[in-house]
Amino acid sequence: MVFCCGLILPLLQLFLVGSCYGSPINKCIGKSCAERPPVVLIPGDLGNQLEAKLDKPSVVHYICYKKTNDYFTLWLNLELLVPVAIDCWIDNIRLIYNWTTRSTEAPPGVDVRVPGFGKTYPLEYLDPSKRSVGIYFFTIVQALVEWGYTRDDDVRGAPYDWRKAPNENKPYFLALQKMIEEMAMKAGGPVVLIAHSMGNMYTLYFLNQQPQSWKDRYIKAFIALGPPWAGVAKTLRVMASGDNNRIPVISSLKIRSQQRSAVSTTWLLPYANTWPSNQVLLATPTANYTVHDYQRFFSDLGYKEGWAMRQDTEPLVSALEPPGVPVHCLYGSGVPTAQFFQYTAFPDADPTVELGDGDGTVNLLSATACRRWVGRQAQPVHLRELPGNEHVAMLLNFTTVAYIKDVLFSP
Ligand SMILES: *[C@@H]1O[C@H](CO)[C@@H](O)[C@H](O)[C@H]1NC(C)=O
Ligand SMILES: *[C@@H]1O[C@H](CO)[C@@H](O)[C@H](O)[C@H]1NC(C)=O
Ligand SMILES: *[C@@H]1O[C@H](CO)[C@@H](O)[C@H](O)[C@H]1NC(C)=O
Repeated sequence: MVFCCGLILPLLQLFLVGSCYGSPINKCIGKSCAERPPVVLIPGDLGNQLEAKLDKPSVVHYICYKKTNDYFTLWLNLELLVPVAIDCWIDNIRLIYNWTTRSTEAPPGVDVRVPGFGKTYPLEYLDPSKRSVGIYFFTIVQALVEWGYTRDDDVRGAPYDWRKAPNENKPYFLALQKMIEEMAMKAGGPVVLIAHSMGNMYTLYFLNQQPQSWKDRYIKAFIALGPPWAGVAKTLRVMASGDNNRIPVISSLKIRSQQRSAVSTTWLLPYANTWPSNQVLLATPTANYTVHDYQRFFSDLGYKEGWAMRQDTEPLVSALEPPGVPVHCLYGSGVPTAQFFQYTAFPDADPTVELGDGDGTVNLLSATACRRWVGRQAQPVHLRELPGNEHVAMLLNFTTVAYIKDVLFSP
């Protein structure tokens, strides 16, 4: 949940930016259409819809629903994020860590599901009730359609429960593998994977699990948009004091309880594979924390589950093994991005933030960690910096869309 609230504000901004986006890309004409590779989209943290059905023993406030007859949209529905209602929402979307199974569970009586696997709608827009707010992969999908693609046929979405890390989403990877095989079979050629944000870590994990022969047969290319390969510095702040991303109606401390409970948040803490050992990420009057101090950090926070979840998830991609497929790493830069937090009162007050380079969410250091794959795998690794592109806005940028078109229609 690092991007929680990292996402809401950009989404609202995108409402404005998005509506300016025309369609300057040529329609697909002639032969190239027939040769287009199928495309699978893998969204980031908070990047697809979630639905919930309730039959709860108790609620946190009398206005909260205790029981619903059917599934409703839990994410994203902006109406659920207003004061008071947000307390009900937090109590439904939070996860509870089970020390025995070392995995998370929904609170009693809350059933959460991911709608629309294989379809594009759950990640084109996040808020189905307001199609213009929460535009996400829409621009890219629409461009693909103009080049001759068909939604839910040769361009498909692979949404997942982004509150969790891959260790708790095993069936997802089997479903993804099966879908890729079916699409490749039908098209008579390999598939292009396009991931955003944390979706890139999911995709890397997936590819690392596949034999090379499978990848050679089924994957044409992996386009990584805004990849946080080595984690994101702002995760420490999210864990410590929460992050409402300056939306005053949402209390940071309130959202913190939910943000902390998502396993994916701990998974996204910066990694020692890339961050300098001596770089202090967060400081308080009594301690300095680097990438090597997470155990103490969680202990000082009084959130021991956080350290357990980090241990459960850190090995998943921390080796940064090359994916073994052609990679295109596209990332924004030049947007002020949090890299260090100074607390005077820890952890219940907002810190002073030191900014560095990145896309506003992902530190440049982390996005460019794909550079280490150059020469370490047989397949090419391309890096493309997109100056001035914000983390989510890059999905709407013409340069990104044109780059994707090049990859799809080049031999
Ligand atoms: C944790 O999981 C175990 C095994 O499934 C179960 O027996 C136990 O009740 C769970 N603990 C909690 C606190 O829910
Ligand atoms: C944290 O690091 C700074 C500078 O590196 C140092 O001045 C300060 O004393 C350190 N604080 C603690 C509590 O160790
Ligand atoms: C799109 O990205 C390019 C490359 O970074 C940048 O020069 C351009 O200003 C961006 N366009 C918009 C509308 O943000």
